Amino acid sequence: MAAAPSVPAPFAGNDYLGLAREPRLAEALYRGAKEFGISSTSSRWGLGWTEVHDALQQELADFFGFESACILGATYFGGLSFFEVIAKTHKVVYCDATCHINLFQGMRAAGMEIRTYRHNDAADLRRQLEAHHGPPPAIATDAISGISGELAPLAEVRDAAKAAKAELLIDDAHGVFAMGPNGRGAMEACGVGPQDATMMGSMSKALGCNGGFIAGRKELVKQFRRTGPAAGSALPPPPVAAAAREGLRIVRDEPQRRATMWANAKRMHAALDAQGIEVVCRVTPIVTMALRDEDDARRMEAHFLAHGLKIPYFKYASEPRENLLRAAARACYTKEELQRFEAAVASRPK
Ligand SMILES: Cc1ncc(COP(=O)(O)O)c(C=O)c1O
Repeated sequence: MAAAPSVPAPFAGNDYLGLAREPRLAEALYRGAKEFGISSTSSRWGLGWTEVHDALQQELADFFGFESACILGATYFGGLSFFEVIAKTHKVVYCDATCHINLFQGMRAAGMEIRTYRHNDAADLRRQLEAHHGPPPAIATDAISGISGELAPLAEVRDAAKAAKAELLIDDAHGVFAMGPNGRGAMEACGVGPQDATMMGSMSKALGCNGGFIAGRKELVKQFRRTGPAAGSALPPPPVAAAAREGLRIVRDEPQRRATMWANAKRMHAALDAQGIEVVCRVTPIVTMALRDEDDARRMEAHFLAHGLKIPYFKYASEPRENLLRAAARACYTKEELQRFEAAVASRPK
């Protein structure tokens, strides 16, 4: 095999479909910049809103099958927007104990009473809901945990929410565009419909662009647009919104990108299996290795780097385990990069 390149190739991150460097998105970005300027320069109610935002927002709602959607400067603002609205009618929220920090910040900022259930344990959620007294609560969960890649039991969470008449929020930052037979995300993969929950999604991950969105019932989404995080911050710049429209078109028209991503995931799993390295979850494009401990994970990071692959070890607010090294399956890997991964795993430090 050729010597490791001087600049290591990213073999992690969130660009699952390999769209971040797709030339057609770059061309859409350039055309958008020429037509609308580089910056949104303002929030949606200032002069930041353009027809390209309008079109993208409608296309997102249509693609995911929701009544309405609200584009955000970052997915991170989704939890803040959701709970600002929901706290007017709900006092208590049940949430997965390790859900993303944006949800916790949103719940806290809105002054909600937070009750956590064990990570991805729908039975624990159900038990707690059965003991719940008072008006119906809200429920919040990540669809996919960002570091471990674990898929939440969304159908069971949906059923528990229904039985408790609870308002459900699913943060599918990592699943949208990549998961499900049609790229409609983890909800589609788990058989959970748009009528069952409000959904947050990211345009900075599988779509290869920037920003986020929150989608749901029309009357709720109308209120999200008026909240501080949605109304008081700049939007994704119009060229980025134009690129996101092109990305969405590719997601719709080129399912083979998802097929390649899954084929690459399988190949990575096989290499890790052959060395007895535990893969935390196999049903999402996040390929996280459970190593002995933090030292072992850092050694493995350095070993991948020596093979020309960048798989950074880092700690994350919502992930208590310290032995995890997170790689990702992406549709854009070259044959040579995949071989490097296999060679690195086969010669792993013991
Ligand atoms: C579950 C989850 N929600 C929200 C976010 C924030 O997404 P964004 O970077 O698009 O704001 C992340 C980021 O990784 C995440 O993992």
